[in-house]
Amino acid sequence: MTSRAELSSSTPAAPGPLTPRPYRVTGRKAEVGDVVTLSLEPCDGHLVPPSAHGQFNMVTAFGVGEVAVSIAGDPDDSGHLEHSVRDVGAVTHALCTAPVGAVVGLRGPFGTGWGVEHLPDGPDVVVVAGGIGLAPLRGAVGELVRREREGRGRVFVVAGARSPDQVLYADDLDRWRRAGSSVVVTVDLGSTGWEGPVGVVTTLLPELPFDPAGAWALTCGPEIMMRFVARALVDRGVDPRRVLVSLERNMQCGVGLCGHCQLGPLLVCRDGPVVPYGGTADRLLLERGR
Ligand SMILES: Cc1cc2nc3c(=O)[nH]c(=O)nc-3n(C[C@H](O)[C@H](O)[C@H](O)COP(=O)(O)OP(=O)(O)OC[C@H]3O[C@@H](n4cnc5c(N)ncnc54)[C@H](O)[C@@H]3O)c2cc1C
Ligand code: FES
Repeated sequence: MTSRAELSSSTPAAPGPLTPRPYRVTGRKAEVGDVVTLSLEPCDGHLVPPSAHGQFNMVTAFGVGEVAVSIAGDPDDSGHLEHSVRDVGAVTHALCTAPVGAVVGLRGPFGTGWGVEHLPDGPDVVVVAGGIGLAPLRGAVGELVRREREGRGRVFVVAGARSPDQVLYADDLDRWRRAGSSVVVTVDLGSTGWEGPVGVVTTLLPELPFDPAGAWALTCGPEIMMRFVARALVDRGVDPRRVLVSLERNMQCGVGLCGHCQLGPLLVCRDGPVVPYGGTADRLLLERGR
């Protein structure tokens, strides 16, 4: 019989939260502008750990560095772990240019999610995204659209892009619209053939036909956008504690050890990125410039 001591010396320990596991790039889709969506699968055959919509992984481009990237896929739909990466610097550039077959590192999932699986049936849910801010919301919206089809509450999606050719996940937006949900896309600058609204996302909120009583809202995008969105929703009568925002801070450990992501009393990697606006984001950040 194998003794406990023999077992512990022969069974490899599961890697801790600071050790990346190897993942192979199995798909690569050039989205709009400088955004690429990578599909990833574990090289060593281990099961992808379950995650909540809105959480993030730390993704390593070996030899270059590691960055926080939101889990962008809806695993129920695609069966892959998806991350949409915007090429803004050394690490994101290495990830955006990684070919199919390349190996990257991945650890996670970390942080808080949107909690859509815990929303009560009934109230409307408003989702407001700017640019790549739709990535961490994509899986949540898929879930909310399914919930609406089951008659458990309406969803209103408002997505903003710089121009018509910069609309991220246009296929998903169409699919959600065809499924019967309210989906509005607005662009900062229109062009020939564009028949949708022109202007920032906040201009659509006063007339959006949702019922603010008991409503929940999820928003992700540039900080200034989230600040104006949150204020506009509160002006419409949404309880500020039911407005959820996703904060972005420079992450290193991702697990509450290094302090790099500290924001007041919060460690954004651990206590965020998704936090309520009322009582948290309003005090710490989003109202700083008021
Ligand atoms: C919780 C979380 C989720 C994220 N999800 C995504 C995602 O789904 N897709 C995606 O493309 N990016 C995402 N990011 C941002 C991503 O981590 C940064 O773009 C990345 O760290 C940049 O690293 P780099 O080495 O490529 O560029 P760097 O050379 O480090 O930076 C290039 C530019 O980006 C700015 N920058 C760097 N890090 C951040 C940051 N965390 N927030 C804002 N600006 C930053 C720098 O100031 C600089 O102007 C997320 C960040 C967080 C904290
Ligand atoms: S990234 Fe280290 S504490 Fe948050």
